Amino acid sequence: MTPTLAEFAFGLPKAELHLHLEGTLEPDLKFALAERNGIVLAEKSVEEVKATYDFTDLTSFLAVYYPAMEVLQTAEDFHDLAWAYLLRAQAQGVVHAEMFFDPQAHTSRGVPFDNVITGYRRAAVRAQDELGITAELILCFLRDFSAEYAMATLMDALRYRAWIIGVGLDSDERDNPPGKFAAVFARAKAEGFFLTMHCDIDQAGSIDNIRAVVEQIGVDRIDHGTNIVEDPSLVALAKERGLGFTTCPVSNSFVTEQMKSTEIVSLLRDGVRVTINSDDPAYFGAYVGDNYVALAEQAELSLTDLVQFAINSFEASWLTPAQRAAYVARVQEYAAAHGVALPV
Ligand code: ADE
Ligand code: ZN
Repeated sequence: MTPTLAEFAFGLPKAELHLHLEGTLEPDLKFALAERNGIVLAEKSVEEVKATYDFTDLTSFLAVYYPAMEVLQTAEDFHDLAWAYLLRAQAQGVVHAEMFFDPQAHTSRGVPFDNVITGYRRAAVRAQDELGITAELILCFLRDFSAEYAMATLMDALRYRAWIIGVGLDSDERDNPPGKFAAVFARAKAEGFFLTMHCDIDQAGSIDNIRAVVEQIGVDRIDHGTNIVEDPSLVALAKERGLGFTTCPVSNSFVTEQMKSTEIVSLLRDGVRVTINSDDPAYFGAYVGDNYVALAEQAELSLTDLVQFAINSFEASWLTPAQRAAYVARVQEYAAAHGVALPV
């Protein structure tokens, strides 16, 4: 019997490659952590918290996102946040997660780097042991802070080198182009980290920034980056290099007026390694399986298209070739078991 779209999408084994751990802070956990840490919140109910989720663009989202982090203080808090995400992710078919974290959003308010990373790492190890999910951490620098602060954060991170698979760049892209962090990313590459950077949707100079991350920084992956469709020669280069694109349809519909389904599907049809992810699911109300369903409904995708997105998620991951192949085989078996044709 053919499964429904949601059944198929949720059960499909998939990797999540664009997920901010701080963006998984659900209001009920926020209240629990506030109480544990003796913090009095301005909002008194889940409804009041949700009423503040009034985003029209990236800047208005970030203005709500950073202050909410005040409840995160101890290693236990960071563990509990990541663990809650991993449980929700498992329920939506995630078997591998490469998760962003923003140490500077915490060190800049006096919380030690060690609290952040030891808590997150404990949840990642526990996910492997108890859920069978492989989970890795990607350290993101906040691009609206200085390059010097990013470099100092990278130096701190070297003490935990084995716990961090790669580095990324997030926060407000406006007036903070990739070149500002060229030396930091060159040093990270020399230390053996994989590289990715956000190229947010419809930013001033989007296409120039995408060209810089490909040609100047030499990233392994691009987060969002769908404005690349404006330059077919860059799309061809991204395809030739096998660059992954971590798109986030529901997030796009909050920070712009659309999911950018036309752009995402155009990359899929062009054979680019484009993937579907959730970004900040507690704020945008959609985890990764929900994003698969939302995009499929909006763009009238086939189940075979969803299989291609899942295969792309492993091929764009930073797993070893053998791990990637094993996960891709799991996707293919899942499709076959549901009578869904494999992509050609
Ligand atoms: N931080 C959390 N989510 C982000 C996004 N989508 N873009 C930039 N910075 C972010
Ligand atoms: Zn993001």
